[in-house]
Amino acid sequence: MYQPNPSRYEIMQYNRCGKSGLKLPPLSLGLWHNFGGVDVFENGRAMIRKAFDAGVTHFDLANNYGPPPGSAEENFGAILRKDFSAYRDELVISTKAGYTMWEGPYGDWGSKKYLVASLDQSLLRMKLDYVDIFYSHRPDPETPLEETMDALAHVVKQGKALYAGISNYPADKTNEAAKMLRNMGVPCLIHQPKYSMFERWVEKGLLDVVEQEGMGLIAFSPLAQGLLTDRYLKGIPEGSRASKAHGFLKQKDITPEKLDKISRLNQLALARQQSLAQMAIVWLLKDKRVTSVLIGASSTEQLDTNLEALKNTSFTRDELRKIEEILS
Ligand SMILES: NC(=O)c1ccc[n+]([C@@H]2O[C@H](COP(=O)([O-])OP(=O)(O)OC[C@H]3O[C@@H](n4cnc5c(N)ncnc54)[C@H](OP(=O)(O)O)[C@@H]3O)[C@@H](O)[C@H]2O)c1
Repeated sequence: MYQPNPSRYEIMQYNRCGKSGLKLPPLSLGLWHNFGGVDVFENGRAMIRKAFDAGVTHFDLANNYGPPPGSAEENFGAILRKDFSAYRDELVISTKAGYTMWEGPYGDWGSKKYLVASLDQSLLRMKLDYVDIFYSHRPDPETPLEETMDALAHVVKQGKALYAGISNYPADKTNEAAKMLRNMGVPCLIHQPKYSMFERWVEKGLLDVVEQEGMGLIAFSPLAQGLLTDRYLKGIPEGSRASKAHGFLKQKDITPEKLDKISRLNQLALARQQSLAQMAIVWLLKDKRVTSVLIGASSTEQLDTNLEALKNTSFTRDELRKIEEILS
């Protein structure tokens, strides 16, 4: 029987999520890739155990994670029942709806009809009574924002989610959404945007809005899906995300220009006695508005390395300047 590491809470320091009562670990684990029906169940299970043993309390899902869609939630539910039934109250579990999930007009985007039904389906797949955070996965240009926010407030008031979150919303829509939710009596807990050294749109306004509104921020794809590591420096390895047909990292994204930057960043990381993956993770955490960095991993070894990142989180001015030079 799985016995979690008794020192897990001594290893990890937690960050308050905006102005809420909830604290999150600086590193959280996402189940977008490597936990689906096409993946090895025991590998996923070992990663969840490893993460929890290191003090990672937050696990992020969405209705469509797999493939096939829904299978990551099913597998995660099975792992919870096998290993974590005594630890539900130590876990922060999130899920989302907003991308295509089922056929017809009610299985996509941001209607109340879709979001409420999708959360019910997610709870059934994970065999949970509630999730901790339920997200609108993306803004819907056709559904009134008020309806999407009403759906989030509704599931929180029903007790099917404890907190509401939004993902991929631009700064202006985030501002509006936060105000609407507050008026509905359900403050927006958190924003989940894509944020990495290679993807910095959040710095142009979103981080400011999140701070003003008292929300937390959890950065997804902090390693640009594996690009910000040494994984692709010598070609595309067998089994890597870019080598898989169902992987979202495409070979065409690995350009010579990117590889040149990656190689220079790698040198800089090594000079700090860190791997590039570690440096890319802690570079995000230097901004205190970033509550947590939401990593993915395909093995317990990667997870180990990435968790070690927290041992060296400070940067000299010179290092930060050199990083900007490489990224410019
Ligand atoms: N809200 C949204 O719209 C949205 C969208 C995308 C993701 N997310 C969330 O964010 C989470 C993380 O996204 P992500 O998986 O793209 O994050 P990521 O951390 O940028 O990429 C993870 C991938 O990088 C590679 N990797 C990780 N550590 C490594 C290391 N130390 N050395 C070499 N390679 C390493 C692995 O790929 P290999 O398979 O090649 O080993 C791993 O699967 C998702 O699981 C999901 O929860 C949310």
